[in-house]
Amino acid sequence: MNNFQFHNTTKIIFGKGTELQIAEEIKPFTNRVLLHYGGGSIKKTGLYDSICTSLTKAGIDFIELPGAMPNPRLGLVREGIALCKKEHIDFILAVGGGSVIDSAKAIAAGFYYEGDVWELFSGIEIKKALPLGCILTIPAAGSESSPHSVVTNEKGWYKRAIHSSFLAPKFAILNPELTFSLPAFQTACGVSDIMAHLMERYFTKVQKVDLTDRLIEATLKSVIRNALIVKDNPDDYDARAEIMWAGTIAHNDLLETGRVGDWGSHDVEHELSAMYDVAHGAGLSVIFPAWMKYVYNEHIAKFVQFFNRVFGVEIDIDSDERTVLEGIKRLENFFREMGLPVTLKELGVTDDRKGEMADKAAEAAPLGNFKKLFRDDIYAIYQIADI
Ligand code: NZQ
Ligand code: ZN
Repeated sequence: MNNFQFHNTTKIIFGKGTELQIAEEIKPFTNRVLLHYGGGSIKKTGLYDSICTSLTKAGIDFIELPGAMPNPRLGLVREGIALCKKEHIDFILAVGGGSVIDSAKAIAAGFYYEGDVWELFSGIEIKKALPLGCILTIPAAGSESSPHSVVTNEKGWYKRAIHSSFLAPKFAILNPELTFSLPAFQTACGVSDIMAHLMERYFTKVQKVDLTDRLIEATLKSVIRNALIVKDNPDDYDARAEIMWAGTIAHNDLLETGRVGDWGSHDVEHELSAMYDVAHGAGLSVIFPAWMKYVYNEHIAKFVQFFNRVFGVEIDIDSDERTVLEGIKRLENFFREMGLPVTLKELGVTDDRKGEMADKAAEAAPLGNFKKLFRDDIYAIYQIADI
């Protein structure tokens, strides 16, 4: 196990009706907020009305910025920064999924930065940001307690990330009931992303990480079990609650303590969602199995352990490879059962821009840690996914 520091500062408020606490959570920070949300799901579910009532009753002024899209765009981030400056905003409340929260984080980071906010995405250190809090409506990205924000620049369709402890939300309200309204496909995309966050951390070459190996395995097993329950019973509170808490646990860095995560599949996927505007989770259900097929020989014992413990694959003592290939098949079958794609064609990608995507991804090469990926490796993974 490697040395580590672990410090996650986001206060989690979890459970039924917790969105009603929104005013008391904001009060210590301000009485003037930017209310940032997406394409309108919060209006359909009544969450918007409930928040407005709570804020108004508590005397908290709010300016609205709707319209954060899945794969949130830089254009709206710039608009948000200008709006916050004009309206003297000093706190952002993000209500929605990872896209809304990431958009809010980018606004928060850009608010104090003197240059254009996109410059921060090339690695300039973030020295200050507006504080923000969130009400989460889809378990998936883990942005509710992560220090990351991923934004798409419409100019050139680059999807890039920023990282700073200043971007970790001050609080995150998680009411599983707010996820009952998710369409089955969005639920499945969230499950795929949560699983990917766990698997990115699992596949490490750091030795003797038994505790975190087993915590990741248990979290994955719980996610898979409860995803199948939710598929048939979308209003099952208990199953929704397990998935929602797992989504936070999967990405709050506890499960990366003492180990080095891979993150190659995420970087390879980001080109897909930037180029084709597909859901991140759907891109991952295509890329992750392809990545596994490409890299398992790097440390096959880790894959054997994974598929034996998480997917119950019997170990074939004559062939590690057969064990692993059976495991990858079971992972793909699970994704299919959830209604997710596992090939580029199933994702709706019918033209061939694999070379272009590999070139763009390789600008940040090498990607990943389990196996360092260069341009030709990245291309080969797209190729495996394109069957
Ligand atoms: O926009 P609205 O109308 O709200 O609809 C959303 C959106 O269309 C809908 N939705 C959300 N909650 C709902 C709901 N519909 C009905 N009922 C509800 N309760 O779901 C759609 C997808 O929302 P989105 O926020 O895009 O999903 P997700 O949370 O999966 O976020 C994806 C983004 O997060 C980034 C991804 O790259 C992607 O851009 N990520 C962020 C990370 C981070 N900040 O740490 C890490 C992740 O690996 C990921 O890269
Ligand atoms: Zn992800």
